[in-house]
Amino acid sequence: MNKKFYVTTPIYYPNDILHVGHAYTTLAADILARWHRLKGEDVFFLTGTDEHGKKIEEAAKKQNKKPKEFADELVLRIKKDWEKLNLTYDKFIRTTDKEHEKIVGEILQKVYDNGDIYLGEYKGLYCTGCEAYYTEKDLENGLCPIHKKKAELIKEKSYFFKLSKYQKKLLELYKKEFILPKNREKEIINRVKEGLNDLSISRTSFDWGIPLPFDKKHVCYVWFDALTNYYSATREKGREKFWPTDVHLIGKDILWFHAVYWPAMLMSAGITLPKKIFAHGWWTFDKEKISKSRGKILYIDELISIAGVDSARYFLFRAAPFGEDGDFSEQALIDRHNNELADKLGNLVSRVSALIEKYGLEKTENKLLKKIKLKEIEKHFENYELDKVLNEIFSFIDECNALLFLKLLKKLQKSLDLKSL
Ligand code: MSP
Repeated sequence: MNKKFYVTTPIYYPNDILHVGHAYTTLAADILARWHRLKGEDVFFLTGTDEHGKKIEEAAKKQNKKPKEFADELVLRIKKDWEKLNLTYDKFIRTTDKEHEKIVGEILQKVYDNGDIYLGEYKGLYCTGCEAYYTEKDLENGLCPIHKKKAELIKEKSYFFKLSKYQKKLLELYKKEFILPKNREKEIINRVKEGLNDLSISRTSFDWGIPLPFDKKHVCYVWFDALTNYYSATREKGREKFWPTDVHLIGKDILWFHAVYWPAMLMSAGITLPKKIFAHGWWTFDKEKISKSRGKILYIDELISIAGVDSARYFLFRAAPFGEDGDFSEQALIDRHNNELADKLGNLVSRVSALIEKYGLEKTENKLLKKIKLKEIEKHFENYELDKVLNEIFSFIDECNALLFLKLLKKLQKSLDLKSL
C-alpha cells in the first residue's frame, strides 16, 4: 500500500474576496501536496470555507442576502481564484455541507455523552471579526488586537466544553513536536501552563449555525464547527484512510484554536490526533498590514498580474522563510522574476534546449544532474523549510550555468586559438 499524506489549509471565511495572505497557506499546502505526489504517495489536500456564525450572517445581511446564498457567490469566486493559482486540492469542503453538519452533531453528542459539556452562562467579551472570546487582558485599549475593533460584551446561556480538564494531556502532547515552528510552540506551552478556562461552545442570540443535538435552541460555536471539517472530510467513502492529518497548515493568528481547542475536542471524542500543526508568519504589504479595514490589500488577481502566476508562487516562498513574517513588495517580486527566473533559470533552459537540439537529449544529460542535492531537498521538505528547498534548487541552477559558461569559454578559446584563456 502506498504511503499516505494528508494536508489541510484553514477553511476561509467567505465574507469577502480572498487576498494574498489567504493564498499563501493554500499555496504552501499545494507545494507539499505536489511534492508528496511526486514521491508516489497517496495525497489528500483539503481546503474549503467556514460559513456559519455571526460574521457571515452580518456580512450577508449588509447585502440583503441569506447567509447561504451570500456564501454560494463568494465560494464561486474563491474557487476561480484557486484555479488561477493552479492549486491542486482534492476536496473543497463547506461547513454548510450536509455531511459535515451531521458529523459535527455526532461529535458534539459524543463529547456530551462523555460528560465534557455542561450548561452555564457566558458573560464576557467577544470579537465577531475573530469569532473569538477575549478577556480584558487580551485586549489592547479595549480593542481586539487583530481587528482593532471594540469587543462586544455578551451575556447569554451557553454550553461549555470542559477544556480545563485537558491541560495536562495537552502539555504531554506538546512534548511530541506537535507544534511547529519551535518558537510558536513555546508561546502555546507557556499560555497553557497558566491554566485553561472552559470554552463556551454554543450561542443563542443568533441562529446561523449547527443546532446542538441535545438542545436545539443553541447553535454550535463556529470554531467547534469549523475545526471539525478536517475530520469530517475524511469520513467520506474512500477517504477514511487519510485520517489523522499529517499536517494542518495555518497562520500564526489561529494557532491557539488549532493547538489547544482542536486536540482537546478530539481527545474528548476519542478520535486519534493529527500529527502536526505548522503555523506560518504573516505577510505585510510595503510594511503595512494586509487587511481590508486597516491597511493595504493585495487581491489574488493583482498578485498574478505583476509577473504571472508562477513568479508570484515562487516569490512568496523564496522571499521569506516559511514560518516567519515577510514583507511583500511589487518591486521585489519583479526583481526576483527578472534576475532569478528569467535570467538564471530562463537562460539555463534556453541554453540547454539549444544543446539538446544540436546534440540530442542523451548527450546533453551530464554529470551535473547528479549534483542536485535531493537528500537535502527531502530533508528541507520534512522540516517545512520551503525557502531552503528553493535555495538548493537555485544553487543547482547556478552550478549548471557556471558549467555551461565554462564550456562556452572553451569553445571560444578553440575557435580563436587563444591558449591563454
Ligand atoms: N475561518 C477561520 C479558519 C478556520 S480553520 C478551521 C479563519 N479564516 S480567515 O479567512 O480569516 O483566515 C484564514 C487564514 O488566512 C489564517 O491562517 C490567516 O493566518 C491567513 N491570513 C490572513 N491574512 C494573512 C496575512 N496577511 N499573511 C499571511 N496569512 C494571513 O481564520
